[in-house]
Parts: sequence; C-alpha cells; structure tokens
Amino acid sequence: MSAERPPGGARPPKGGGSEATSGGVISNESIKRLVPEFDALKTRFPAGFESYLVLPCLRRVQEEQGYVGDSDIDDLVAYLGVPRIQIEEVLSFYTQFRRQPVGRWHLQVCHNVSCSMRGAERVLDQLSKKLGIGPGQTTADGRFTLSTVECLGSCGTAPVVMVNESYRENLSVESIEALLDGLA
Ligand code: FES
Repeated sequence: MSAERPPGGARPPKGGGSEATSGGVISNESIKRLVPEFDALKTRFPAGFESYLVLPCLRRVQEEQGYVGDSDIDDLVAYLGVPRIQIEEVLSFYTQFRRQPVGRWHLQVCHNVSCSMRGAERVLDQLSKKLGIGPGQTTADGRFTLSTVECLGSCGTAPVVMVNESYRENLSVESIEALLDGLA
C-alpha cells in the first residue's frame, strides 16, 4: 500500500466489485440511525465517488457505538456500494479504529521509540499490574481496556498514554495510581 495515499483518501472507485451493491438492505439499527447523516454527506460528492465516504462513515459509526463490527462493515458495503476490501483497508490502516467493544476507559499505551526510551514498558507493566489485565484485554467489570499503540505524535512528552480521546503525558510508574484514581 502506498504511504502517500491512505485508504479512504483520494481514490475514486473503479466500478466496484461483486459486493458493490449500493442501496442494499441495512440490518444494523445504529447504522440505520446514521443514514440521514450519510445521505447528507453523499450530496457533497458526485455519483461514483462513494469511496470518499468510507472514512467519515466509519468515524461516525465508531463515535456512535465505540467500535466497528463485522455487521457494520456489511451494512456500509450495502449502503455505499463499495467493495468490502476498501472498508477493511481503511480499518486496518488507521489504528484509531476499534474492531471490538472496549471498556468505559480505553488506555492506549504508546510503545514506540521515544516512549520506550522514557519508560513506556514500566508504565505498561504498572497498568497491567493494577488492572489485572494485559494489552488487548478488558477488565471483567467492563471499566478498562488496555492496548498498546504506535507513536501518538507527542514524543516530546513521552511516555504517553491516550485515555479515550485525551493524552496523559510525562507519565511514570508513580503517576499511574493518580491517573487510575481519576477515572471514575
Ligand atoms: S513515541 Fe510515543 S508519542 Fe511518539
């Protein structure tokens, strides 16, 4: 895949594939609720450019229900008439997208170079110890999900953990307690 052109970016569809069935049946209630928004988005592009809608539609689905499931992909294939692979490409390229439900608090620990050099592994170990879960897991009460991610773009304040939509920076093993205490 070209680094210059992220999926969902500037690539008009080439006539779709066997799954390109725009106007198909949508089964998922949360997607049905979003269709008026999707319809409004559609009016901004000429017919045949539905691939441009993949990224904004996926974002809205995740904002609504916290993740993008397989059935959501099925519905977007039906609605947009784009090949399923085009949606899968976007989901796998952008790590912000989640494919599984997550807990009330999603803790994403950056473990790229700058954060690693400044103690990200120790921060991750401390979070694992406190929460009793490893990366990719959710606590039994559904409150916390722990993940590791690549660079969050805040290397100057490493190590960094993204908590839902906000950054917690310059973390240390000692500051983890206060971080978790602040997440009611
Ligand atoms: S390496 Fe962690 S924010 Fe860049």
